[in-house]
Order: sequence, then C-alpha cells, then structure tokens
Amino acid sequence: MHRVTASAAQCADPHLAAIITAAGTAALKAGRILRQLYGQPHRITHKGAIDLVTEADVAAEQAIIAHLRAAFPQIGFLAEESSAMPTSMPSTPCWIIDPLDGTTNFAHHFPWFATSIGYSEGGEIKAGAIYQPLLDELFLAVRGSGGWLNNERIRVSDTAELQQSLLATGFPYNIKEKIGEVMDVLTSILPRTQGVRRAGAAALDMAYVACGRLDGFWEINLKPWDTAAGLLLIEEAGGRVSDFRGNAFSPIDNEILVSNTLLHEQLTSTLTDIISRQPPPNPSG
Ligand code: IPD
Ligand code: CA
Ligand code: CA
Repeated sequence: MHRVTASAAQCADPHLAAIITAAGTAALKAGRILRQLYGQPHRITHKGAIDLVTEADVAAEQAIIAHLRAAFPQIGFLAEESSAMPTSMPSTPCWIIDPLDGTTNFAHHFPWFATSIGYSEGGEIKAGAIYQPLLDELFLAVRGSGGWLNNERIRVSDTAELQQSLLATGFPYNIKEKIGEVMDVLTSILPRTQGVRRAGAAALDMAYVACGRLDGFWEINLKPWDTAAGLLLIEEAGGRVSDFRGNAFSPIDNEILVSNTLLHEQLTSTLTDIISRQPPPNPSG
C-alpha cells in the first residue's frame, strides 16, 4: 500500500483521513518539482534584503494549491507565496502551506529543504505533512491519531538532561534588528547542551524533534506556514510546543519553543531568565 494511504488508514476520523491523504499527496507532488529544479540555475527575486523567492517556490505552491483545490474545493488557503501574514488564525477550514521551506539553502544548492502543509479547522491544526524530497522522507500527523515517518510511527526522544541534548534553532530574516536578542538566547542555551544546529529549514527542525533525531528547537518570527504542520507532528509524537515562557502556542505567535516534553521546563526556565534580563522593546523602532 502507498505510504500516504497506509497512514491515512490508521486514522480514526474518516474526514481527517481524506484530508491527510490530500496533504500527503500534494507534498509528494511538490517534492517532485523541487527535486527536478534543485541544482539548476535559479531565477531569484527578493521579498526582503535576505528573504528570497525562486521559481521553485512558486511552481511548488501552484501544484499544491491545484491538487488541494481539486480534492476539497470548499477549503481556503494561507500560502506563503500568495497570502499576506494573517493577524489571527483562520476560523474556517484552511490549508496552511510552505511550498519550499529552506529557500536560501535551495538557492545555494545546499541540500536541506522541505514542503510543509498544515490543515486547520476552527483555528486548530488537525493534520500536517512535511516532505524532504532529497531523502524521500514523508512525515504525516493527524490530531488524535498519531504521527508517522514513511508510515512508521514516530516518537520524540527520551533525553532528560539538557547537557545530553542536541537542539536546533533558526535566525529570522530581520536578524539585523534582532541580533542582540537572538545571540543572548544562543549564548545562554548553547553551553548547556551537546550542540545546537542551524540547518535552515524550520519545518524539518520540527519534524526532527518529532521523530527523536533532535531533542528541541526554538526560533522567533516564524510564520504560520513554517510551524503549522510541525507543531502537530510534535504534539502527536509526545512532544510539547509553547512560547519561550511555556505558554500555549498559536502559529501566529512570535516565539516558538518545542521539545521532547522532558526538557521543556529546563528550556523555559533558561529562556524566561534571559527574557527577563533583556531591555523592553523600543517603541520608536
Ligand atoms: C525559513 C526557514 C529558516 C528559518 C526562517 C524561515 P523559508 O523559511 O524555515 O530555517 O530560520 O526563519 O523563514 O523562507 O525558507 O520558507
Ligand atoms: Ca519557511
Ligand atoms: Ca518558504
């Protein structure tokens, strides 16, 4: 049986089984496009000074939307290359799409990127798919039914001490304005761990926490399309998702901290301590 239908067959809810089938199939389609275009010269345009878009971002997004619209014409879209950043989570059913997470890597022929598709209903993420096309790894999750990597059940790590942990982080596109804040957090966390990676694709960082290859991840200024699918993977695999202080996280929030649950309090207490020592934001900029 195909890995998407095999995972979907394990879902308790038939509606979500159909949703994850559509999301997983769309992610595989996008992955084929990214594989074909990877390593070729790219047409690069800029959304910001260091925030790029290639023809692959656009082509993958169009293919995903075409597939999902044909499968579920009534469901809306929040897609990185064609939607504005929302001020709140959509209350009606919605696909949340990052066609190419890791565009800077892709543009530099650095083989670390993925497609991420989340599905939200009533403001809550109910299904998610993340696909790494070069390794052919498909991560799927359905709320209440679990998470899978190529149809094998996934589970977060059992690392209980920060000193034994391998973590990941990312740097926001407005790093020039945020450099002090970002480095304060890194300076404080890095020496307490076995290592911190910055590989350049937040969706994969989160998928890797979900399957136990990483023990935790944090970043600021991510967008809903970066985190929607990943947060559900983590929750379904036994992990925890919050802001830096441990409060409930929504994909429109500015800070995200994820972990294997066992490390969460060690991380929130370190982060809370750093945040409380940082100067308040300057209202004039
Ligand atoms: C970016 C990646 C990166 C993270 C950035 C994201 P994009 O997404 O996930 O790892 O550090 O904050 O915006 O732009 O490649 O889709
Ligand atoms: Ca992204
Ligand atoms: Ca992207």
